[in-house]
Amino acid sequence: MASDTLTITDNRTGKAYDVPITDDTIRAIDLRQIKVKDDDFGMMTYDPAFMNTAACRSAITYIDGDRGILRYRGYPIEQIADKATFLEVAYLLNEGELPNRAQLDKWTNDIRFHTYVHTNLIKFLEGYRYDAHPMGMLLGIVGGLSTFYPDAKDIEDKQNRYIQRVRLMAKLPTLAAFLFRHSRGLPYEFPRNDLGYVGNYVNMMFSIGGKHEPNPVLQRALEILLILHADHEQNCSTSAVRAVGSSGVDPFSAVSAGIAALYGPLHGGANEAVLRMLDEIGTKDKIPAFIESVKQGHGRLMGFGHRVYKSYDPRAKLIKKVADDVFAQTGLNNKLEIALELERIALSDEYFIKRKLYPNVDFYSGLIYQAMGYPTDYFTVIFALGRLPGWLAQWEEMIGDKEQKIARPRQIYTGHDERPYVPMEKR
Ligand code: ACO
Repeated sequence: MASDTLTITDNRTGKAYDVPITDDTIRAIDLRQIKVKDDDFGMMTYDPAFMNTAACRSAITYIDGDRGILRYRGYPIEQIADKATFLEVAYLLNEGELPNRAQLDKWTNDIRFHTYVHTNLIKFLEGYRYDAHPMGMLLGIVGGLSTFYPDAKDIEDKQNRYIQRVRLMAKLPTLAAFLFRHSRGLPYEFPRNDLGYVGNYVNMMFSIGGKHEPNPVLQRALEILLILHADHEQNCSTSAVRAVGSSGVDPFSAVSAGIAALYGPLHGGANEAVLRMLDEIGTKDKIPAFIESVKQGHGRLMGFGHRVYKSYDPRAKLIKKVADDVFAQTGLNNKLEIALELERIALSDEYFIKRKLYPNVDFYSGLIYQAMGYPTDYFTVIFALGRLPGWLAQWEEMIGDKEQKIARPRQIYTGHDERPYVPMEKR
């Protein structure tokens, strides 16, 4: 008779243990009963990089990496990207359902009300050098925000958490635009609350002398990119937000940790790395030699491969469509041609096929951002703007999850046994 248990026999002792199975998963803590001697610590699992460990139960985002499926709260990403606005998606991720008109109006107005930042933050920004990396500035200034809102420490109060999430949603575009203006030495453009979320952000970025002619095609393209980045379940930066947030720190500090994780070239920094790679390749005739060097282990094909997707990243498919709209407005560029050719060659090469390496979300996003006028080192900031609703939804879910405690992995100690301190003259 079938039973939802796993029987484990410890061949060291001959003892058998029945461990419950739920959702095709066993609880690592159930293995602790497996001991040779009564005073043993008990068995652990070893899983560097959490390749096969579920750290939480989550109802936010579903991914099937083999079939290339991504859903936010059950809705396919293709439908969401086609029909929804970014604030609708942010609401969906955070509240669990699509908003009705009144709910969306309230959410939009709450965010609009908080777009201004304390002007002391401008002094903070001015402390950065003109060539400071935008992600370094962003993670610092978002961490700094926590000092402006000490009430954010009260994470037990649901209404208070809502206000802090709204503040982050409202202020991140303002800060992201301010740090761009700082890099350029341009005067800051303050939020305009008569504009929509994306329109206001673009205006703060590019308005000169109070004037900016919005391009609706490019703004919708940017909005789609933000939507495609909005959540991706337990990725590196989201895990950072959850792990840091699990200590009970305020959400500004936890999100700042997420931004730090996103900064890395193996995560959000990949879009920037793709552009640098395309620059390095330079011309189409150099592609075969470049692919060969990657196969020899000299660097990676940036924007390819994914921990979860072992087929075409569904976001990359949608981004290619966005690229067509954007390049129809801005004109084709040489780098896009190199990228298309790289993709064509890589997808027919045995090395990439065998390892199931396909373009990920970052392969084309950088090219689009560049065509829209964003500097290369700024691309990951746009990723952070997109990912923010996901970080906040996951943080909120974690706080409300009674099973969660402070994140604290175990280790297998591989160092010395106890040994006596050696005085300096004897070393
Ligand atoms: N180029 C060349 N080879 C690659 C690449 C790549 N981009 N990615 C993986 N491989 C190879 C590895 O060398 C390895 O080969 P081996 O089995 O012969 O040793 C095999 O494929 C498996 O790679 P892992 O590193 O074990 O895969 P992992 O799941 O740990 O890494 C990652 C995933 C980090 C995304 C990786 O594919 C990578 O470095 N890609 C390039 C960076 C990138 O585009 N990052 C963006 C990810 S998406 C995002 O964060 C939004």
